[in-house]
Amino acid sequence: MIAPSILSADFARLADEAAAVRGADWLHVDVMDAHFVPNLTLGLPVVKALLKATDIPLDCHLMIEDPDRWAIGYAEAGAYNVTVHVEAAADPVTLAKNLRAAGAKAGLSIKPGTSLESCADVLKHYDTLLVMSVEPGFGGQSFMAEVLDKVRTARRLVDTGHLNLVVEIDGGINEDTIAQAAEAGVDCFVAGSAIYDAKDPAVAMEKLRALAAR
Ligand code: DX5
Ligand code: ZN
Repeated sequence: MIAPSILSADFARLADEAAAVRGADWLHVDVMDAHFVPNLTLGLPVVKALLKATDIPLDCHLMIEDPDRWAIGYAEAGAYNVTVHVEAAADPVTLAKNLRAAGAKAGLSIKPGTSLESCADVLKHYDTLLVMSVEPGFGGQSFMAEVLDKVRTARRLVDTGHLNLVVEIDGGINEDTIAQAAEAGVDCFVAGSAIYDAKDPAVAMEKLRALAAR
């Protein structure tokens, strides 16, 4: 699956930018609060507007403090997948249950320095594991290949039936890096600059899809 990240899109034309990646599996929406990460993007009102503007399921990546309080609103609004950071969540198990009860898939994200072991017990409550392959906060950074060990471990746990989740990767995914991520076992690839900085985002997206499938 490919999830174009609108962080690299034109924020004044979000409906058009969503339409430009028709056929995307998920549309990745980066919510940043200028506290958990040193950047500020958008919040629930914009997500609600996007939900009306596109049929692509929204994959909301909350890079915010206190997700235990704020994440539920995105699920209730109709986001398909709501991902919180394990480093920020006080009670990730209850949070996952609440997200699911509100009708969303529950996602857990880990920063590059966070181990899989540190959230092993929590992961069985989640539908998505978002492995960050850059420090969260900005688009256009370089891919950190060292996180692929975590992807391989997660892939093994899924393939052996110990976990049941989508393995997603976020950060620095482009034509040069997507194949190694696919080989490590990623199911869903987030790509921001590689898609929206391209002349034709849909063409760039399909090119990534083809490279991931090989
Ligand atoms: C970064 C965001 C990413 C960002 C990725 O913190 O979580 O979703 O959009 O951008 P690229 O694909 O340009 O690395
Ligand atoms: Zn993201």
